[in-house]
Amino acid sequence: MITTRALLFARSIFVIASVVLSNIVESGASGSTPKAGLAWPNSNYVNVNQFLTTHKVSWYYTWSPYSINADVEFVPMLWGQSQVNEFAASIDQTISREHVTAVLGMNEPQQSDQSNLTPEQGAQMWKTYLEPLRAKGIRLGSPAPSSAPSGKVWIQDFLQACNGGCTVDFIALHWYDVDATAFELYVQDFYETFKRPIWVTEWACQNFNDAAKQCSYDDIVRFMNQTQTFMDKAEYVERYAWFGAMENLQGVNVDDALMDKAGKINSLGRQYIAAQGIGGALTARHLSKRTFRTTALSFLSAILSELL
Ligand SMILES: *[C@@H]1O[C@H](CO)[C@@H](O)[C@H](O)[C@H]1NC(C)=O
Repeated sequence: MITTRALLFARSIFVIASVVLSNIVESGASGSTPKAGLAWPNSNYVNVNQFLTTHKVSWYYTWSPYSINADVEFVPMLWGQSQVNEFAASIDQTISREHVTAVLGMNEPQQSDQSNLTPEQGAQMWKTYLEPLRAKGIRLGSPAPSSAPSGKVWIQDFLQACNGGCTVDFIALHWYDVDATAFELYVQDFYETFKRPIWVTEWACQNFNDAAKQCSYDDIVRFMNQTQTFMDKAEYVERYAWFGAMENLQGVNVDDALMDKAGKINSLGRQYIAAQGIGGALTARHLSKRTFRTTALSFLSAILSELL
């Protein structure tokens, strides 16, 4: 039998607990979730779990609206014109099935061999396919320009062409070159120019200007360490994904690969997921919050079932 008093009591406990819990969830989201992600073109043909063992990797994307089977957050992407139909047909279902929180805009729009869009076409595509997702609480990432000088200009022209009609919650960008300090300055400049959080959705030690001057493997180890350390610390960098979680690097320096030719995680891959190093500390904080949340929730339901 339920008395009114018991119900009232239960309700006030529930309200208090909800407030406490939502604060915990929020602080978890902003403070301690690791930023590292996987730019993953391999579907489930390559074992993704070997990259998730340290919990340093918290998300992935696939340059497409399609997720894989992986126990970390999926971020869908609208790659460009060639994907609008499949994106439109599947995105609502994917958002609810995968608990999507963010969606990425078009891939290297100012490159003719990539999504190849004028800023006006980009603005039109954004308004048609991406802007409506904000009504579902989804955060939207800008089209991700390549690091050619035309990239920053494209984003500026795109925002102008949007004429206030595109809500860009964060700026996504790609960067390829060989100097870690130049990378830091580039990312910082994008932050200061656009005044939004940054996601670096592709980067690697790769010289596209002088093919003869590539990084050695040791250079790459140092480059990854410096750039990753920088982004882990920089508050305005929300997330990043190295280019190299694949067997075939499509013209990028093969020493940037995070796996060997058979799809097995290699030494650089283990460095990226912080098999040792700062990833451990972040993970411990991440997990303890989670555990606390679970404990609090079961405590709550125990009280409720006792009362009702
Ligand atoms: C960078 O290298 C230092 C020294 O070996 C190490 O302590 C640190 O964890 C590394 N950081 C990353 C992000 O790999």
